[in-house]
Amino acid sequence: MTNSRGEFSSRFGFLMAASGSAVGLGNIWGFPTNAASNGGAAFLFTYLLLALVLAYPALMAELIIGRHSRSNAVTALQLISVGEKSKLLGFLVGFLGIVTVTFILSFYAVVSGWMFALFIEPIARFFGWISVASWLEFDSTARNIIALVLFMVLTISIINAGVQNGIEKWARRLMPALITILIALSLYVFTLPGALVGLQAYLIPDFTRVASAELLVDAMGQAFFSLSLGVGTMLVYGSYLSKEENLPMIGGLVALLDVGIAVLAGLLILPAMYVALESGVEIFDSQGNLIAGPRLIVSVLPNLFGTMGSVGLFVAFSFFALMTIASLTSSISMLEVPVSYAVEELNFSRSRASVSIGGFVTIMSILIAMNFDWLFDVVVTLTTELSQPLLGLFFCIFVGWIWRRDAILEEIRCGSPNVQNSIFWKIWPFYVKFICPLAILMVYLQ
Ligand code: PHE
Repeated sequence: MTNSRGEFSSRFGFLMAASGSAVGLGNIWGFPTNAASNGGAAFLFTYLLLALVLAYPALMAELIIGRHSRSNAVTALQLISVGEKSKLLGFLVGFLGIVTVTFILSFYAVVSGWMFALFIEPIARFFGWISVASWLEFDSTARNIIALVLFMVLTISIINAGVQNGIEKWARRLMPALITILIALSLYVFTLPGALVGLQAYLIPDFTRVASAELLVDAMGQAFFSLSLGVGTMLVYGSYLSKEENLPMIGGLVALLDVGIAVLAGLLILPAMYVALESGVEIFDSQGNLIAGPRLIVSVLPNLFGTMGSVGLFVAFSFFALMTIASLTSSISMLEVPVSYAVEELNFSRSRASVSIGGFVTIMSILIAMNFDWLFDVVVTLTTELSQPLLGLFFCIFVGWIWRRDAILEEIRCGSPNVQNSIFWKIWPFYVKFICPLAILMVYLQ
């Protein structure tokens, strides 16, 4: 079994794949609007702190379990368990993770489908296919279904091609493109009237908000979703990582890239919203709050691009290319979780696993798209607010309380032989054992 498993061919490949999983709609869409509605830089500050002291330790827990066990989430958790009871718990947590991520993908694909449709729209307009462009621009169930099916076909094809030829190859191509587009777009938006006001809304902290419970809950949820934690994604990617890699360092780089790109996305989205305001686009809802949910990306920003004339076509194309890339590098990491389980535990071939599970997700997504008004929010709440933090908690319990400490140290020592004397080993075990579970529990009870 171990020999037939894939492995990332280089550190760069892993970094691009893992940060590709982390960087998604959560960063480019969720983070900036969360920041805007939670006291700007006060949120930014809290988020950075939580990412460092909570999300990074939890990310390390998953990467270490994954690389040690070199297997899917269920087998991995069972492998580090000692007695029968914890083995059963390992099975339950791993399996619930697989189910959760499968459902996360099914709502994620709906939104990614919109991004994909809006990415094709300026291309159609450029070639003068006006009726196609209008159809793509207009929110209809037919458009949403076709777009999500195409998006899922892309996701399934990449996963079908395997770890090196699929995930790694595409992450290496797409992530540098994503960073380049993000920087170029932010620089461009800075030159437009109104951008500075948006920058102020983002960067000037309202410190009265820092201590608010709501802000803490939002920032923590954001950090966990953004780092793809709790559902076995990082565990599975870690299981394809070479024993020569220095885990604390490489995990730190992934977290830094994720946070860095979220911060950068804020530098694009908030100024863009105030530029839109300057051009007469409504950016506040009836209660006077900044528009955050789906309407931000699918109506506010396209309206802004619409006021820009022919440059707007190019800006819209680049922006939705950015969103599509961010979605795709995350969606493949989600599909890999159930696929690796089916291949290793149910003896499916890789193509049978990716097509059947991907097909199942596509059907779920179509159902969500058809019943969007009530079903979408239900699935989002069940998966990201109920299941994901709870699973995150259990991952910390496995590493902090169930897995043997000397075995953990031995695993981290591969690739960083002196880790025992490092600040990481002085702090991290304590964190995953006490601080992380407590903090997650507190937020969960909120
Ligand atoms: N991290 C991704 C984002 O920010 C979402 C994700 C969640 C990916 C869970 C994989 C697993 O959009």
